[in-house]
This record gives sequence, C-alpha cells and structure tokens, in this order.
Amino acid sequence: QSPGFEVKSVVDSSNDRVKELAKEGPLEAGFSIFAEAQTAGRGRRGKKWISPFGNNLYFSVYWPLDDGIHGAMGLSLAAGVALAECFTDLGIEGVSVKWPNDVYISGKKVTGILVDLETSPEGAAHSIIGIGINLTMPEHVGASIDQAWTDLNSELPEPRSRNHIAARVRASVLSALQQYEQHGLAAFQQSWRRYDCFLDKPVKLIMGQRICLGTCRGIDENGALLVEDEQGVRRYFGGEVSLRAQ
Ligand code: ATP
Ligand code: BTN
Repeated sequence: QSPGFEVKSVVDSSNDRVKELAKEGPLEAGFSIFAEAQTAGRGRRGKKWISPFGNNLYFSVYWPLDDGIHGAMGLSLAAGVALAECFTDLGIEGVSVKWPNDVYISGKKVTGILVDLETSPEGAAHSIIGIGINLTMPEHVGASIDQAWTDLNSELPEPRSRNHIAARVRASVLSALQQYEQHGLAAFQQSWRRYDCFLDKPVKLIMGQRICLGTCRGIDENGALLVEDEQGVRRYFGGEVSLRAQ
C-alpha cells in the first residue's frame, strides 16, 4: 500500500512542513507533503527555488535512514535518475541529470532536488527529499530565474494532467528510495551514466573561491563526483561543490 500524503495550499517550504511534522511524532516512510505554492522555496546553499502558485509541483518526502546519515549522499542522485527515467517514459527527449541534484531537458533546468538530513539525540536519522518540478511556469515569473529553465508542459509530446504527473513522479521516487535502501547506488550507476550531462566532458568545479578544472568521470559507489586532472582521478563530495561546463 502506498504511503500517505497531504496537499497544502501555500507553505513556506514543503521540506520545512515535513520537518515540523516529524518533530510531532513518527511518520511513515514515504509520507509526502505537496504544496500549491511556496513562499520560501529553497535550493542548496541558501539559493531560492521560484515557486509560484499555479501549475507546478513542489513536494517533500519523509524517508528514515536506518543506517544513519553516512549513506545519504546518494539519495539525491537516486531520486534524480528516477525522475529522468520518468520524464523519458513520458516521451520527453534530451533529459539529463547534473550532479548532485538537478534534472535538465535540452540543457534547461526543469527540476531541483533538495535533501535535508536530521538526526535525533538518540542517534536516529531521517531525510527529507524535496522536489520541485516545473509543469507550467508563467513566463513573467520564470523571467526572474537566473539560469536557463523549462517546464514539462513545453516538452511533453502530448498533454498530461497534473495529477497524472504527480502520481507518476511520486511513485518513481518512492520506488527509487526503496531500491536505494536495499542495493545502494549500484542499482543506479548504469542509468546515471546514461543521463549524466557531463560524463567525459571538461568541467569546472567551484568550491567557494577555489576553482578546479578536469574531465568528469561520473560518480563512485557512494555518489561522490569523479573528476580527472593531470594528477589522476579525484573524488568530490556534495555540500559546497558546484559543477559547471568548462
Ligand atoms: P549547483 O547546485 O550546482 O550550485 P544551481 O546553481 O542550479 O547548481 P541549486 O541550488 O541546485 O543551484 O538550485 C537553485 C537555482 O536554481 C537558483 O539559483 C536558480 O538559478 C534556479 N532556479 C530557481 N527556481 C527555479 C525553477 N523554478 N526552475 C528552474 N530553475 C530554478
Ligand atoms: C535545487 O535545485 O537546489 C533544489 C531545489 C529544490 C526545490 C524543492 S521544491 C519542494 C522542496 N521545498 C523546498 O523548499 N525545496 C524543495
């Protein structure tokens, strides 16, 4: 049986709503909150996720981490690949993923994933996987997004209802989380290579003031980014790293 979900009108951030509920009492794995709009939608490192009222999807999934937070780096990758597969299954061409948390269509951002991790004083850990998917982004709102973006309704070969897409993407993400729990990232490596927008391409890594150049070699078994330079292949972990084309 599929885990429960709630649909809210306007929230600050659906991740924060799940966080509050998790404080109040135990939630079932996969429980989700969908919102119609967010007043404080978040990306990584304090960036904003533009979340107007209308026809987009903003939702967050509660997922316990029985082995603690050390295996959590792969969660956004597993969810990203699942969404890339789902969009491809809907007939969209040119879908790709960008490490560690974005899905693109023909080089334009359509989806962002934000994973928040929490631990209790008793040592129990859980994650909140927040997903923003543009379905129909009003042009005048999209104009404030400072990178190339698109929405699913501009890319779908045939119209689909929002409920249809919401149910499909949620089912894909829940199934990916289950697979990830059982098999780790091994279950996603092949698919990641298929969708990785930078595989074997020259990339630039931005870490605060520091910039590193190299060739992207995909991800390791924990989801760390592999970049090759003259010294060999190095691993980079999420957090402060931003990946760009060179
Ligand atoms: P990185 O994570 O590598 O730094 P990034 O610049 O895309 O990549 P994120 O934190 O992943 O940063 O995402 C936030 C960014 O996404 C915002 O700064 C903005 O450029 C873009 N963005 C915000 N809202 C939307 C939206 N609704 N659709 C597409 N892109 C958006
Ligand atoms: C990113 O690209 O950095 C991640 C963006 C994640 C946006 C989603 S929308 C639902 C959930 N609530 C938030 O505040 N952020 C995520």
